[in-house]
Amino acid sequence: SGLITIDPGFKNTGSTKSAITFLNGEEGILRYRGYSIEELAEKSSFLEVSYLLIYGELPTKAQLEHFQNEITTHTLVHEDIKKILDGFPSNAHPMGVLSSLVCSLTAFYPESLDPNRSSKEVDLSIIRILSKMPTFAAWAFKNQIGHPVNYPDNELDYQSNFLKMMFALPAEKYKVNPVVAKALNTLLILHADHEQNCSTSTVRVVGSSQASLYASISAGINALWGPLHGGANQAVLEMLEQIEKAGGDTAKFIAKAKDKNDPFRLMGFGHRVYKNFDPRAKIIKKAADDVLGQLGVDDPLLTIAKELEQIALKDEYFVEKKLYPNVDFYSGIIYRAMGIPTEMFTVMFALGRLPGWIAQWKEMRENNEPIGRPRQVYTGENLRSYVDLNKR
Ligand code: CMC
Repeated sequence: SGLITIDPGFKNTGSTKSAITFLNGEEGILRYRGYSIEELAEKSSFLEVSYLLIYGELPTKAQLEHFQNEITTHTLVHEDIKKILDGFPSNAHPMGVLSSLVCSLTAFYPESLDPNRSSKEVDLSIIRILSKMPTFAAWAFKNQIGHPVNYPDNELDYQSNFLKMMFALPAEKYKVNPVVAKALNTLLILHADHEQNCSTSTVRVVGSSQASLYASISAGINALWGPLHGGANQAVLEMLEQIEKAGGDTAKFIAKAKDKNDPFRLMGFGHRVYKNFDPRAKIIKKAADDVLGQLGVDDPLLTIAKELEQIALKDEYFVEKKLYPNVDFYSGIIYRAMGIPTEMFTVMFALGRLPGWIAQWKEMRENNEPIGRPRQVYTGENLRSYVDLNKR
């Protein structure tokens, strides 16, 4: 064990070589397959970015059409999955429902368990999960509010279909707001991949045992759920509401975040890798202003967020520790303006991160990476003799 280096949180440990996402935390650079996040967020669509991440190149027009058609064909889920959904209590957190429904796909498509499937068969699993996640996500929400579920509308594009499944009421002629659909497209692209983060590493480690794509993604969803990772977007909004309820005294909460005896952290601030700024946060801050303006929403939480950011960026504690707003500092404010409830925020993150998880799982399997199995340094007792129960 003398040769083993312990690196809690893998702060300085690289787990793999990867050709998917380039990230430079010092300079705030993020690129998918060589394309800058700024350019993709402005010009691309979420499904095009998904194709890029998974297959390595931007699709031709014909390839994109084929990919979109395939995805549309598989949006419907087996009716028995609705029975699983019905078994959840209506107060179930939608992240737990989502990971369970995704894992249930292993039962409906048991062929996905075979690690020796052809790449064509793997492609079908990829199409299936991309198609069905929005259905699961919207159903998890409908379950929570006690409404009947909406079935997919295959006339609509990926984002619009999701919005309709989320918000259409029975017998209502639902019209998708193009401002909301466009904002959703941007948010999904910004979350689509982020190299070896906690949930992606989880997907790779689970997949490295040759577990199925569905089982690996389900594990990734659970890793994303925690408040230090994807759950931060929900935590940010709850924090902003807490500050608003307490009279909007931002300075008081900044002081709490700096106090080492107080467990309170400024949610949406800080990042393991970005030490100057998070390029996604820059795009999202502007999107928040645009979307709220276009929707005519005047949200006091946006004012509180901006005030917090201004104070923190000038505060010695945050400057010294290089803590900046991350992608999720403003995302929740946009989701809220879109009518998406707080407990669904991390589900939205999962929808966005899905192509990244798929691409990383596929890369790991294609490179025949060995099973993920870290070592440890043992710190427990030396050999001891068993003591009979009546002598303890
Ligand atoms: N508020 C107050 N202090 C903080 C914060 C914060 N948000 N983030 C880090 N610190 C302090 C921390 O207490 C530590 O101080 P010290 O060196 O005195 O012990 C120092 O800064 C370094 O923090 P760390 O926790 O050792 O750094 P890490 O790289 O392990 O953690 C992080 C990164 C993102 C988990 C952390 O910054 C954090 O908890 N932020 C709030 C949660 C959050 O917004 N998470 C979303 C991340 S972006 C979306 C995603 O990828 O999921």
